[in-house]
Order: sequence, then C-alpha cells, then structure tokens
Amino acid sequence: MQAAVPATHTEIRLARRPTGPLGPEHFRQVRVPVPDPGPGGVLVRNRMMAVTSVMRTLMEESSPLPIPEFRVGETMMAPTVGEVITPGDSGLRPGQLVLHHAGWREWAVPEPDDVQPLNTASLPDPAAHLSQSFASWVAVVRGAEVRPGDTVFVSGAAGGVGVMAGQFARLHGAGRVIGSVGSQAKADFVVRELGYDAAVLRNAGEGTFEERLRAAAPDGIDAVVDNVGGEQLGAAVRVARHGARISVFGTLAEQGGGSALTEIDTGLLIGKGIVLRGTLVFDHTDVIPDFEAALGKGLEDGSLAFPHNRFTGVEEAPRALRELLAGKLSGSVLVEL
Ligand SMILES: NC(=O)c1ccc[n+]([C@@H]2O[C@H](COP(=O)([O-])OP(=O)(O)OC[C@H]3O[C@@H](n4cnc5c(N)ncnc54)[C@H](OP(=O)(O)O)[C@@H]3O)[C@@H](O)[C@H]2O)c1
Repeated sequence: MQAAVPATHTEIRLARRPTGPLGPEHFRQVRVPVPDPGPGGVLVRNRMMAVTSVMRTLMEESSPLPIPEFRVGETMMAPTVGEVITPGDSGLRPGQLVLHHAGWREWAVPEPDDVQPLNTASLPDPAAHLSQSFASWVAVVRGAEVRPGDTVFVSGAAGGVGVMAGQFARLHGAGRVIGSVGSQAKADFVVRELGYDAAVLRNAGEGTFEERLRAAAPDGIDAVVDNVGGEQLGAAVRVARHGARISVFGTLAEQGGGSALTEIDTGLLIGKGIVLRGTLVFDHTDVIPDFEAALGKGLEDGSLAFPHNRFTGVEEAPRALRELLAGKLSGSVLVEL
C-alpha cells in the first residue's frame, strides 16, 4: 500500500561550511511542509540514500568537481532511491522505484531530468544502485585498464569504491591485488572477506608507506586505482612497473582532513611509460549496461559481495557521514529514510 502523504517531513540542511573535522554544528535538522509537486511534478517518498566522502568536498565553498556545492541554509543532496507517489507528467507509475539526487530529506520533488527509473531487471537490489560500485567499475576498467595477470594496487581499499574495486580487478583477471587501509581490522577484512592478497596500513607499520607497499609488491605494480592521493599516489608512481596505468580517482587524503598534494618525478613517468589518468565516473556512462549485468550476476551467484553499513532515519545521516570520514566504517554507507 502506498504511503499517505503527511503534512510535514524532516530535512537536513548545511548549517555552516566546515574547515576541519565535521561536527553536529555543520548540520541543521528542520521539520518543514512536504514539498508540493505542483502541476505535472513527481512526488517521491525517499526510501534510502547514500552517504559518500565527496559530500565533505561539496560542503566547502568551492570544489574542483563538476557537481554544484551545497549551499549554506539549503537541504543537502545525495543519490537516493525513492518510490513514486504522484507521477505527474513523468510517465512513471505510482509505486515505481526511481533514482534521483534530492536526498537528505524524507519526501522529495526531484527535478524532472534528475529522475531515472531503477533497472531492477539486471540489478534487483535497490541498495546496490546506491553503492559506489559503478565508480569502482569505471576506475578498474577505464581508469586503470586492469588486464589479466596484473598486479593491482587499490588505495582506500576498505572504502565504498575500494571494497568493489578489488573484486572487479580480480574479475578482470588481476593476478595479485593489494590494498591500503587505515587499521589492522580493515586489513583483515579486505583480505579475508574481499579476496585482497595483501593490505598495507597507511599510517602504521615498519618503514615508510612506500617501503611497505614495495614489500607487498616486490615485482612492482601494473595498475593502480588511487582513491587517496598525496603520499600514497607518490609511492605508487615509484613502485609502478614499466607501462603501468594509474587511475587518479579520489582525494581521501584531503577529505580525511589532510592534503592530497603529491610531488611526482615526471622523469619516472617518461622513463617507465606510465599513464597517469584523472578519471571521472560521469565520462563513462556508456559502460553502465556491462556494469549492471556483471554486478547483478555476481551478487546473485555469490561471486561478488557488496559490503555496506545501514543507518536508520534521515536524522542519522550527519552521524553516518562523520563516522565514514573518521574511518570507522568499511564499505558503502546507506541511510534508510
Ligand atoms: N573520480 C570519480 O568520478 C569518483 C567517483 C566516486 C568517488 N570518487 C572518490 O573516490 C574516493 C573514494 O570514495 P569512497 O566512496 O570509497 O570513499 P569512502 O568510502 O568515503 O572512504 C572513506 C575512507 O577513507 C579513508 N580515509 C579517511 N581519511 C583518510 C586519509 N587522511 N588518508 C587516506 N584515507 C583516508 C578511511 O579508510 P581507512 O581508515 O581504511 O584508510 C575511510 O574509511 C573519494 O575521494 C571519492 O570522492 C571519485
């Protein structure tokens, strides 16, 4: 049965821009009237939203990303799955599940060109549509061009992108898969549960990060999915083998409160014929059908896992983002609304 439309609902707004770690003071929870779809608009009951580290970047004054920053005083945005209540002129059916970006709220009237019906035929689990899996697929297939027999390094291996990137690298024939993580518990998790061959601690252990990475990949690295930047990207360039492909994909070093700036000896790039490629997921939507088919099949036959955390209630979303950025969670982070 469809949800009755209440008079009011809860939204989370950006209260102030952060300059350091996130706290409760950066968010404001408000109770406001449920939006009116007006003539022809689509009213959606949001069911689940994704919380991702890029939101920390979008809370700042200006970001280099091709996504609008959040505005102070306005409700934040997030990839969200919802159920159509009033289809308006959209051609959708009441009860149909859709993907849009008007998250951080219980009810939404998304922009008409932002509403896509969920392809539940090839990927039946709505939660999987909110994973970072598509980004991981792009990083592996297009950014790092993983090939059979490659030794692959995934930085930020326990994050939403990293947990899938290691599995997708293996699916594309990787011979050895190495990840970087922030704790021994996460190292054990990616090796035992996700099939990584080795995990390097980013902030602990013998010697420098580069020495630890070299010990895990004594013959060098052929392909890199770099979610972190900074010291880890610099080390990956130095440990890379001739002809390596390095996908520069994320800036977790900065989103975690530090810096993703990297000093790279360009002579090494030339001498080793390394491809250093900034990779943006939006440039590769042509591979969505391949990706959805592969993930749907892998989840169904159990060859792929989708590790994720669930929080309940939109009022828990700020805590979910704070815990994610503090490194307390492994895998994707979803909030049931
Ligand atoms: N290029 C694109 O089109 C695209 C698309 C999607 C996402 N991205 C980017 O890809 C990156 C990974 O995304 P994600 O969703 O996997 O991230 P995520 O799940 O939010 O990753 C959070 C993890 O980052 C790690 N971390 C925190 N502070 C860190 C620091 N100072 N240095 C290194 N790691 C730190 C922590 O793990 P540990 O404690 O285990 O280190 C934490 O659990 C992000 O930068 C995101 O913006 C890019």
